[in-house]
Amino acid sequence: MKIFLDTADLDEIRRAADAGLIDGITTNPSLIAKVAGDRDPKEIYLEICEIVDGPVSLEVVGVDRETMVTEGRKLAAIHENAVVKVPLTEDGLKACRDLVSEGFKVNVTLCFSVSQALLAAKAGATYVSPFVGRIDDISGEGMDLIHQIRQVYDNYGYETEILAASIRHPVHVVEAMQIGADCCTIPPKVLWQLSKHPLTDRGLESFLADWEKLGAEI
Ligand code: E4P
Repeated sequence: MKIFLDTADLDEIRRAADAGLIDGITTNPSLIAKVAGDRDPKEIYLEICEIVDGPVSLEVVGVDRETMVTEGRKLAAIHENAVVKVPLTEDGLKACRDLVSEGFKVNVTLCFSVSQALLAAKAGATYVSPFVGRIDDISGEGMDLIHQIRQVYDNYGYETEILAASIRHPVHVVEAMQIGADCCTIPPKVLWQLSKHPLTDRGLESFLADWEKLGAEI
């Protein structure tokens, strides 16, 4: 399963890229608004693409097909790794088809149902992003959606990749893996939580204490 980092924070992106742990990045207008300050978001997008050797999702903010396509072309021109992110609306699906026909990669985001995911695949999306955590937030079962989409895509051989999004904790990542999501986009905090285990810490502590008794060097 590919791991994407769900952030526009350059320090966090450098930290994860330096560890060789991530396959790409997803951003959205809220994530870029958190970090941009006075900077032009497009400059930050370029920096992200230069740090990470993999797909970087950059989202349009237009709501009609024509504006989304125009913005999508501009975002795609930032870097060869750019993936244009469009919302799962009627206009978004049409813009997806247009952009895919022009040879661009498209991530269809804000997916909350299997019927929406079917249309994203029909529109030729490279990725569909079902938002697991936001479904859980309203007392639904976000992971059921990942299951259903996997089943439908496998039934018909759709090649659109399932990008599990709105991930809130390590269990979401583990379940997405078990179901067979193609990718999971993870906030930095959750990425590092994945590496933690109290028995690892305890085991290391006792190994080091025993080694210390030897007074030797490697
Ligand atoms: C997906 O690409 C989105 O950026 C993201 O996963 C949204 O997650 P949130 O519900 O934590 O905002």
